[in-house]
Amino acid sequence: MAIPPSFIQELIARADVVEVVGRYVQLKKAGANYSGLCPFHGEKTPSFSVSPTKQFFHCFGCGKTGNVLTFMMEHTGVGFIDAIKDLAQTFGLQVPEDERSPAERARDAQVKTQQASLTELLAKAANAYKEQLKLSPRAIDYLKNRGLSGDIAFQYGMGYSPEGWRSLASVFPDYDDAQLVTSGLVIEKTDDEHPEAEAKKYDRFRDRIMFPIRNVKGETIGFGGRVLDKGEPKYLNSPETPVFSKGRELYGLFEARSTLQKAGYVLVTEGYMDVVALAQMGFPNAVATLGTACTPDHVQKLFRFTDHVVFSFDGDGAGRRAAIKALAVAIPFATDTRTAKFLTLPPEHDPDSYIREHGADAFRRFVSDATPLSRFLIEAARDGQDLATMEGKSKFASNARPLWSALPQGALKIQLRREIASLMDIAEFELEGLWKAQTPPTYNARPDSNNYNNNSDKRPYDGDNGQNSYKSKKFDGAGRFNKAKDAWNSSAGAAPGLRARSAPASREDRALQILLTDNAAWEQLSQRQHELLCALPAPHGAVFSWLDMQMHEHGAQSWGALSQALMGKSFEGTASKLVNLMPDDIVADPAELGSILREVQRKAISAQMQAAAKAATGDPAEFERYKALAAELKALSS
Ligand code: UTP
Ligand code: MN
Repeated sequence: MAIPPSFIQELIARADVVEVVGRYVQLKKAGANYSGLCPFHGEKTPSFSVSPTKQFFHCFGCGKTGNVLTFMMEHTGVGFIDAIKDLAQTFGLQVPEDERSPAERARDAQVKTQQASLTELLAKAANAYKEQLKLSPRAIDYLKNRGLSGDIAFQYGMGYSPEGWRSLASVFPDYDDAQLVTSGLVIEKTDDEHPEAEAKKYDRFRDRIMFPIRNVKGETIGFGGRVLDKGEPKYLNSPETPVFSKGRELYGLFEARSTLQKAGYVLVTEGYMDVVALAQMGFPNAVATLGTACTPDHVQKLFRFTDHVVFSFDGDGAGRRAAIKALAVAIPFATDTRTAKFLTLPPEHDPDSYIREHGADAFRRFVSDATPLSRFLIEAARDGQDLATMEGKSKFASNARPLWSALPQGALKIQLRREIASLMDIAEFELEGLWKAQTPPTYNARPDSNNYNNNSDKRPYDGDNGQNSYKSKKFDGAGRFNKAKDAWNSSAGAAPGLRARSAPASREDRALQILLTDNAAWEQLSQRQHELLCALPAPHGAVFSWLDMQMHEHGAQSWGALSQALMGKSFEGTASKLVNLMPDDIVADPAELGSILREVQRKAISAQMQAAAKAATGDPAEFERYKALAAELKALSS
């Protein structure tokens, strides 16, 4: 069901975020705001702040941020619709009926049903594979030879896909059901030479050990299948489907999630076998990426369940490259409350073979000696450079810079710059000056663009990031709202593509920050000022025009309510990023706004004067206009 946005805005306007958060978190007044222990990550000193004026919460530790609705969803785990219903109920309001067109409704329902039927289908296949494992002495022997216990195989729902091209036909009587192809279980191939002939269909997984991949809800969303003997490919994975995406899912997370609290960290490996072997040897807190590099989505997901991530990589060259990639991905998440560590195994080992050869205790020692992100960052930047030479030091500094820039603000960032300077044997202010003087490390040639997601090969560290692939808050299948990504987006100002945190906000940026969070100030401005602001080039002008409309329709609103209305607008990302970058306690200062506006006005008038001057040669009216503008400019300066 869809709810009219205006109703949602009204609801947020009525609710008080301080009161709602206060039901769950003990809040204390601290200056203009309230603060308390963040409910989203474990902490002992409060870094969670709720602003009654902005109607927004923000955690300086984990970066979570949002309005009253976001809080209800994230904290109580309810979906978007339910959060609205709950909130409406406290005011005795009736949530208005679905206003989607029948076509939209049908399409949404179809997507939902399709996803549900796909996971159902996949679960059915997983069960069948499990049964087949019991019937295949060969498959059982293979697993036994690899040291796997029946318990672990059961716990991870492992199975066996039998030989034969259409074994699944006995599981799914309607083998022609198109859903079987969509789910990735069945492959459909047309004969190129006889395109008119009926497509051939056959099982994707044949004669393989099957690892079901489950999402965090425990639904089966795909499979990995390993050959028993030699054969290519060694592992076959489900293709991308409506329910499965390699870049987002982690093998074993469903099984591991309940153990993370106790273990205190999650261990990220590269292989299915690593996960099951580690679980058997006493490390149930292991997960694996699915044959792809670690993505920001992966890291984001992991940090939802724990504050400490240990990445383990094979000791070969490929492992080293993968580790550097993971470093770049992890950096923007490294707030002071979280840690990421890197573990490099001896060249001949992966976690599975290491723990089987050396035992659990040796592996545990290995984990506790893992390299912290800070040191790994230095090592990655130093890579091959001789710090005894000036050239080596300079190269080191330029390697370090984008990595350092991508760190979120905090103690770690401060210490690291000191460390980098000291390794270069220069004073910190000299390093700062050096970095300021050099062009900032952007990896996108287009100056006007907010899109850092340009996957060019120019980046020394392809940390990308996925940030901007989530341009706006999206609803996932369950109707929940993927807010965390945006929280990250906004709190870690430097994150995108390892781009340096940019220079202080421009005047236009500041005006936006102030006026979006203090609507009343908008009403104080003159009509002329409104016009000027609305006429600014994109994105500012568009945001101000929109704000103007909002003021006409709703009057002054809190940022919490405005941010809701912003959802889905093309400039949503720009605007919320700006506001979220604001120091939390900022109270709009009328003098500052005044001087900003004078500058903006000056700039705009000068531009108009130039245009008028050009046109004035053949047009006396333009000359008059030029004179009027000049007078206006003069009045402004006096
Ligand atoms: P490895 O080749 O290191 O396999 O691939 P492994 O996990 O150690 O497995 P064993 O010990 O040989 O059985 C690591 C991961 O890369 C992906 C799989 O996810 C695998 O677990 N991979 C590997 C593929 O997707 N396809 C392949 O052909 C090989
Ligand atoms: Mn292995």
